[in-house]
Amino acid sequence: MGYEYGDEPPGNTSANRNFYDVMDARVGRRGFLMAGLATLATGLIGGSLSATPAQAQGRSGLIGFKPVPVSYADTVVVPEGYTARVLGPVGTPILGDLPAFRSGANTGAEQERQIGQHHDGMHFFPIDGSSSDGLIVVNHEYIEPRFLHAAKDGYRGVAHNLASVVYGADGKRDDDEVRMEMAAHGVSVYRTTRQAGGTWAVVADPRNRRVTASTPMEIRGPVRGAAAVRTRFSPRGVMARGTLSNCAHGVTPWNTYLAAEENWSSYFLNLDAEQPREHARYGVWKHPRGGRYGWHLARSGADDCIRFDASTRAASATRDYRNEPNTYGWMVEIDPFNPEAAPIKRTHLGRFAHEGVVFAPAVEGAPVVCYSGDDARFEYIYKFVSEGVWEPGRTDGSILDSGTLYVARFNDDGTGEWLALAPGQNGLTPENGFADLADILVNTRLAADHVGATKMDRPEWGAIDPNTGAVFFTLTNNTRRTQAEVDAANPRAVNNFGHIVRWNYAGGDHQQARFDWDLFVIAGDARTSAVGEGGALNDDNIFACPDGLWCDKDSRLWIQTDMGDVGPDYEGPLKPFGMNGLLAADPATGEIKRFMTGPWGQECTGVITTPDGTTMFVNFQHPGAHATPAQFAVGDYGSGFPDYDRTVPRSATVVITKDDGGVIGS
Ligand code: FEO
Ligand code: CA
Ligand code: CA
Repeated sequence: MGYEYGDEPPGNTSANRNFYDVMDARVGRRGFLMAGLATLATGLIGGSLSATPAQAQGRSGLIGFKPVPVSYADTVVVPEGYTARVLGPVGTPILGDLPAFRSGANTGAEQERQIGQHHDGMHFFPIDGSSSDGLIVVNHEYIEPRFLHAAKDGYRGVAHNLASVVYGADGKRDDDEVRMEMAAHGVSVYRTTRQAGGTWAVVADPRNRRVTASTPMEIRGPVRGAAAVRTRFSPRGVMARGTLSNCAHGVTPWNTYLAAEENWSSYFLNLDAEQPREHARYGVWKHPRGGRYGWHLARSGADDCIRFDASTRAASATRDYRNEPNTYGWMVEIDPFNPEAAPIKRTHLGRFAHEGVVFAPAVEGAPVVCYSGDDARFEYIYKFVSEGVWEPGRTDGSILDSGTLYVARFNDDGTGEWLALAPGQNGLTPENGFADLADILVNTRLAADHVGATKMDRPEWGAIDPNTGAVFFTLTNNTRRTQAEVDAANPRAVNNFGHIVRWNYAGGDHQQARFDWDLFVIAGDARTSAVGEGGALNDDNIFACPDGLWCDKDSRLWIQTDMGDVGPDYEGPLKPFGMNGLLAADPATGEIKRFMTGPWGQECTGVITTPDGTTMFVNFQHPGAHATPAQFAVGDYGSGFPDYDRTVPRSATVVITKDDGGVIGS
């Protein structure tokens, strides 16, 4: 896939297109008169949903903290009156005999009992409704082998991230390193309780669990049993092994967790002369050492490892792993309160680079509705509407197994429509290459191409305001959009800084096929941004590359940034924004304030509070990722977070409390 850094491309260093040129083009199309920037921006990005002058004054108390400045420090900064403490960094023991974290020296067997690496989407599941006792469920998006194996032979000075693993003279990978890497992926479930003094502790509990790249799971929904998912492991196509690239997540109305499979395609290779479309359209690798970390080259030749090579090697698909990549790209349901239950791949939500999923507020007697973005350049935003209806206390995950998957078209006039991806609809027929529903779902991207969906600037997280039903989605950036490809919903060529789109339905009914949309904020610096209340971002809130997004019970919209692996020596268009962090916005007024900044090299991922809103959990993923091989060779890991004691930097959760015990953000 050719990522330069991290798991995703950062904003590139090419010159950003002048914002005003783009705005001129869009103003003309939407019929607004040219005026000063404030008027222009309000008309453009507020549309009919823009704030009234009264709202623009700010809603008293909703966002009450004093914003923090842009930071270039290797530390966590929170507003005055707040405290941040570390919880559950990678390597924290949660199972069995609780093997201790040993910097760069843990074994694979130990990692299977410890919290994984690269924390991302996360939820706090209260135990009995408590705000001081609950289960944290956290995704581990990918790994950085040089930090996992820092004390092992050959890892000093290797390059960052991809293709950065060490092969033996025989071209094979060490079995225990592979075991550890597979165990550092997936999802961690652990109990945490609030202690005297406001700290939180990881607690041993029978519900503590690791789901990894090897965990057996069920395939449910229309693709269960389909020819495309039959493998040597499951000739009937009903089981799969593992989950990967678990970026963001979702929480169902029936209180389970959904882990999204995002950049899974790069874990696989297929060296056949011609890849099938269900591999090629998703970016399965063609390089013999592809498969990202080379797990298929584990010295043991174990079945659990060779499955990452999806090349045809036997007489039939049930004797090899040509279909293994088709068992990835789904949303995976995990019940955190039932550690014995196998995770379930819910195939009716589609197969793509799922960033996460967000559910509309459930309405008794109405279908369940959820939204999911496909995070790659020029990919789409999807909606699922269940066939069955929400029955509190009775509905479970099986409601996701029948319904209709839709993809979004954003019209330039501020309206939009959901296009059904179903057999016989919108040209999805056998004559056009879509044999049945399972075929459509395995090839979700191709079906969306066929129906004419709108190509977006990398859809990341979605969030829904629980008080208004408004839906927000981050479009993180897209440096490859050309001027000819600009549209109203993706208004910038060479979009370095990203934006946030918002939509609403007449009457607030999420089942509807038509919606009205506008742009909530166009991110950037004071020169290149625009906000709904009029004008531009300023020192208190400039930001770039929105990624994580969550709306709390009071309607605070929390925005997290991922500008890639930005460190202190970074020079480029993202420099004015400092280190990645977290901001809070008022959807009613467009007011935005910077709440927190993080250490060097990380991105800010995953945000949730306790039910009472007084404790917030936030992740910092991949601190130190910017460190060069030369730095690493002399023991400079790029960042000290969170231990600051010359151990490897570690992804971790940060627990934020307000010193007066109040609601976070108030
Ligand atoms: Fe894994 Fe698109 O962020
Ligand atoms: Ca993300
Ligand atoms: Ca991202």
